[in-house]
Amino acid sequence: MTDVIENTNEKTNLADPKLREMIDPILAANQELPGATMVVLNEIQRTVGYVSPEIQQYVAYRLGVPVSVVHGVVSFYSFFTTQPRGKHTVKFCLGTACYVGGTPQIIEKAKQITGIEPGKTTANGNLTLEVCRCVGACSQAPVVVIDDVIQGRVRPNRFPQLIRSIQEEGKA
Ligand code: FES
Repeated sequence: MTDVIENTNEKTNLADPKLREMIDPILAANQELPGATMVVLNEIQRTVGYVSPEIQQYVAYRLGVPVSVVHGVVSFYSFFTTQPRGKHTVKFCLGTACYVGGTPQIIEKAKQITGIEPGKTTANGNLTLEVCRCVGACSQAPVVVIDDVIQGRVRPNRFPQLIRSIQEEGKA
């Protein structure tokens, strides 16, 4: 799910000075490069951990590009998140082979046992659910990626067992 951004509400500064301390050097180092928008957003995702609507507006202002351009990049690439990710990330592949192979049923199971939708993080910050495009393991469809480790041929009834250790950790 993507956040709606007001194009007219230009953000000329960031409320959190710590965020500014992290983002301003990234802008200064990259804003003259060709394709600066992508480079800057990548660096912010890597350094800050997310690119919130407020950050998107600030980057657009500083780079002199429309907010819609920045928002378009952040929405298009699943690498970007608009909120901080949890300690653990579970991604559900929605490429064709996985979709046909049963990813929607696995997502339903995941929603039931975690109480959150894809794109969200549990209240304790332990787990984020996401969807992603094909990860190149179609022969093992349906695929779930848990903390960057591919799990193949996942069945909905096997899913709780796959994330049990992550859930236990969240309760500690
Ligand atoms: S479609 Fe899921 S790994 Fe290719």
